[in-house]
Amino acid sequence: MNGKANGSEKKTLEYEITVVTGNRKGAGTDASVTLVIKGTQGETKAFSLGKWFHDDFEAGQTDEYKVTAEDVGELLMVVLRSDGGGMNSDWFVNRVTIKVNAKSAIYDFPCNRWVQSEAIVFEGTAKLPTDQQHGTVKSQREMELKNRRSFYEWGDDNAYKDLPGYLKATDVNSIPKDVQFTQEAMHDLHKARRAALLNLGLVKLFNLFTKWDDFDDFRKAFTGFVGEVPKAADHWREDCFFGNQFMNGCNPDTLKRCTKLPSNFPVTQDLIGNLLDTGDTLDKALEDGRMYMVDYKILEDIPHYGQDREDLERRYTCASMGLFYTKSSGDLVPIAIQFHQIPSSENPIWTPNDAEMDWICAKLWLRNSDAQVHQMITHLLRVHLFMEPVAVATYRQLPSLHPLWKLLAPHIRGVFAINTLGRSVLIAEGGVADNTLTVGGGGHVDLMKKYYKTNSWETYNLPQILKERGVDDPERLPNFHYREDALSLWRAIEEFVEEVLPIYYQSDDHINKDYELQNWIKDLHDNGYPVDPGHEDHHVPKSFTSRKQLNKFLTMVIFTCSCQHAAVNFSQMDVYAFPPNAPAIMRQPPPTKKGVVTMMDLMDCLATKHQSSVTIATVYDLTRIFADEKFLGDYPEELFVEEAPKSAIAAFQKKLQGISAKINERNSKIAVPYPYLLPERVPNSIAI
Ligand SMILES: [Fe+2]
Repeated sequence: MNGKANGSEKKTLEYEITVVTGNRKGAGTDASVTLVIKGTQGETKAFSLGKWFHDDFEAGQTDEYKVTAEDVGELLMVVLRSDGGGMNSDWFVNRVTIKVNAKSAIYDFPCNRWVQSEAIVFEGTAKLPTDQQHGTVKSQREMELKNRRSFYEWGDDNAYKDLPGYLKATDVNSIPKDVQFTQEAMHDLHKARRAALLNLGLVKLFNLFTKWDDFDDFRKAFTGFVGEVPKAADHWREDCFFGNQFMNGCNPDTLKRCTKLPSNFPVTQDLIGNLLDTGDTLDKALEDGRMYMVDYKILEDIPHYGQDREDLERRYTCASMGLFYTKSSGDLVPIAIQFHQIPSSENPIWTPNDAEMDWICAKLWLRNSDAQVHQMITHLLRVHLFMEPVAVATYRQLPSLHPLWKLLAPHIRGVFAINTLGRSVLIAEGGVADNTLTVGGGGHVDLMKKYYKTNSWETYNLPQILKERGVDDPERLPNFHYREDALSLWRAIEEFVEEVLPIYYQSDDHINKDYELQNWIKDLHDNGYPVDPGHEDHHVPKSFTSRKQLNKFLTMVIFTCSCQHAAVNFSQMDVYAFPPNAPAIMRQPPPTKKGVVTMMDLMDCLATKHQSSVTIATVYDLTRIFADEKFLGDYPEELFVEEAPKSAIAAFQKKLQGISAKINERNSKIAVPYPYLLPERVPNSIAI
């Protein structure tokens, strides 16, 4: 077919356009929409997409059109425009494909975003800024970043100084629609809170401000209300279960090998010798690397809730220390606990040789310290807040046709929404931290800032950090399931990244020359993790000079956003839903003498029924997996369209299946399974 254009003969072609609307609530549009095809030799007119008597662009629907237009050469982009009309005008487009029969070519345009007034979507082949590309593509990639930078700015609120950078936003509804909670997620969040309070029957507890009578009271209450109590309710008093929690509970980050006892924790052979295996001694166990420690020194000087306010309940925690021993049976058991950092007659060392109530009490206080650190450092700071700058810089510096955008987009999904919500309902005054932690009321923010000052990206290198902590040896520290599963997943991610990078970066020189990538890491260095006065270097590279260095960084990001978050988040219901297993609030000071604590004292000390119900409702909320969640290695957005990255993804998925089979096999043989790092239970990103 031939037509006339600009007075000269120009060939016309038939274009078969397929538009896939996202399968999510609110994705469909009633607006009038048009599409323009841009190619190497110009662009078509705007085609009105929509047919008479046909409801186009409903959620999950595929619509097809045939149009005739001039030959615009090789297709580069499509421009989708909406007139904003109709009741539901916003339109979530998954992708557009265009078949040009005359050229035997199919062009794929992965979109995966909202069309509100206009969206310009690149043909899907990933390209570095230095790759050969048409001038219009080059200028559009710059335009896309310019646009994004105006929506994704670094936050500058003084309240969050001395913490990692974050997205500027007044509240969760003010962030760009592309990064808001999906309607499905919002629905799940509301449903979870209702279910926690009503269906779990917590509403009854919620209205009781009374304390418990004894530990069985917790059990009875939860059997009646919650139905199924976590395994911890049956085993929390057992020392081997207690030890296991420091490896395979919700905070696997704290345990370290102890080869020499610190001078402020003077445990002696006399004190614990009888607790060791026959023939073993304290010195021998220390020397052999079978002694481990947790030390919550960081809690020293952190204000407690109500400490300076008489109108508030006074709560307590301590900068406690715990010593653990690996028995020949393989069990890790606690053998000594000290509540404070400076030894004294009023700060005795507690052991299993003490009266039963004393030892229970000592273990409660150690778990209480761990709960503060787990919530504010391991979970909120080290995962949620530390990963947010990666998302900000990715939106600001990597255009949607950059291969690293395509690699990272699934892993940064949801973090802006949950963190922005977290800043207003969790961290803020009167929020969840104030209601559920001893360090709430301001100490929780001080604790994060104190930790962050010396925190470094190097601490995200899992194999290295496990080695430095001395917990890398399965012979000396068996049954550390988190370590085994996390390392398997780490290696799979590393190999996946190793396969993807050379597709685009044939040499280290390509890394050096990719100025978008260099801008990305510079933005992270300067604005994501600024080294403010009083900070140690956070060890963010200023630039990338090799594929190896880039691989390490990307592996840390992907692992932390997916696996680490899953390990420390989705384990929370099992840990905190039976409060004596991990009391996050203590309402009385710790004892200073042995032999005086009674059951009544402990009940006075633990959270009230009301407080316990708030904690359980909160962890129930936080362990929801959204209906539209995508799990590790599942990339249905198909942002990559070329064969090479697609086959790398397929290989990654195959490895994950193998890891899953191994974990399931191991779990089938142990009394307390460790399911949190099953790849099919690990969401790609931090979304809750
Ligand atoms: Fe989380």
